Amino acid sequence: MKSNLLLILAAGIVGLSACTNNSNKTTTSKTDSDSVSNTVMIPDSSNFIATVNGKQTGLYVLKNKNNVQVAITNYGGRIVSILVPDKDGKIVDIALGYDKVAGYEQEGEPYFGALIGRYGNRIGKATFTLEGKTYHLPANDHGQSLHGGPKGFHAQVWDAKKVNDYTLELSRVSVDGEEGYPGNLAVKVVYTLTDDNAIKMDYTATTDKATVVNLTNHCYFNLNGEGNGDINDHILTINASKFTPVDSTLIPTGEIKAVAGTPFDFTKPTAIGDRVNADDEQLKMGKGYDHNWVLNDGSTNLKQAAKVVGPKTGITLEVLTTEPGIQFYGGNFLDGKLKDCKGGKPYQHRTGFCLETQHFPDSPNKPNFPSTTLKPGQTYKTTTLYKIGVQ
Ligand code: GLA
Repeated sequence: MKSNLLLILAAGIVGLSACTNNSNKTTTSKTDSDSVSNTVMIPDSSNFIATVNGKQTGLYVLKNKNNVQVAITNYGGRIVSILVPDKDGKIVDIALGYDKVAGYEQEGEPYFGALIGRYGNRIGKATFTLEGKTYHLPANDHGQSLHGGPKGFHAQVWDAKKVNDYTLELSRVSVDGEEGYPGNLAVKVVYTLTDDNAIKMDYTATTDKATVVNLTNHCYFNLNGEGNGDINDHILTINASKFTPVDSTLIPTGEIKAVAGTPFDFTKPTAIGDRVNADDEQLKMGKGYDHNWVLNDGSTNLKQAAKVVGPKTGITLEVLTTEPGIQFYGGNFLDGKLKDCKGGKPYQHRTGFCLETQHFPDSPNKPNFPSTTLKPGQTYKTTTLYKIGVQ
């Protein structure tokens, strides 16, 4: 098949890589300003060696038989780089991020590549009540709690175990009271790079007190290559005929609304930018797309949630998940002002998108949404795949 052939060709030009200092040299070639830049490297792993909160950070590179490479740091469990061949066999990095661990520690960094927890997305008024007890969380987003709080899982150093060339196991215990949440939560996330070019993320967690859990990954993608323009030309499909409208603080109103006839209808492949500036109340609330879609298959079966095509490279991303929802965030808050992004590139408005598989935002305060409560004796278990291809 064409895609396999391209991957084999790419295998010939991508260097060996591992979690070592001399592992960073991959493919470097000219930059063509008329098309897609083709200067691609895994960041130097020595830039990721640090001690943060008394714990050691590093960079771990997963590689499959097609020589697709994914670099992950245990600081925040973040995907740093995803190196894949495009339709012409050129290697492209499709993940936004930094080339030093210090980049990820900067205030205001927008969760690049991060594992998000204990509760991905927002909890209204940073408060919820569980089994009769009210919990107050640190409010870090206009009075709401966003992505587990300022010191959520994205800002923690995970214990890392590189199981083999293509598997990295990350784990940590989020202690009782961390960022306001009840219960000691033992969390494990296994990243596996499969031979069919999927980044598989298996999340498990157990608790010793009733708590709420909603884990996700916040990778920003640009399928034309990070730093190569905006994502408005990307063609998106979301397998959802409903979404959860929000108020001005991006907290769901509780309504589950049909997408038909609105700019939120991605049931058929549509360019992201086609309607992003339409005169629509919900788009105004989100400053663009920053909403949760209700997947048509709300079961815990692994199913395709979304598909994106980058027209310049032909690179495709399929998102498969066991979750009932997906947040499509179109990079509305990127404004070119972040410092020290990869290769010094400014990431301008809407130059990356996230597809965050999840339970719905503010579920702890929305009895009509699927529950995010985890009790002692239960195991939280979800799987999401980012499957990369070319067409
Ligand atoms: C999420 C949110 C957005 C924004 C980004 C980070 O996806 O939904 O509103 O906060 O994270 O900038």
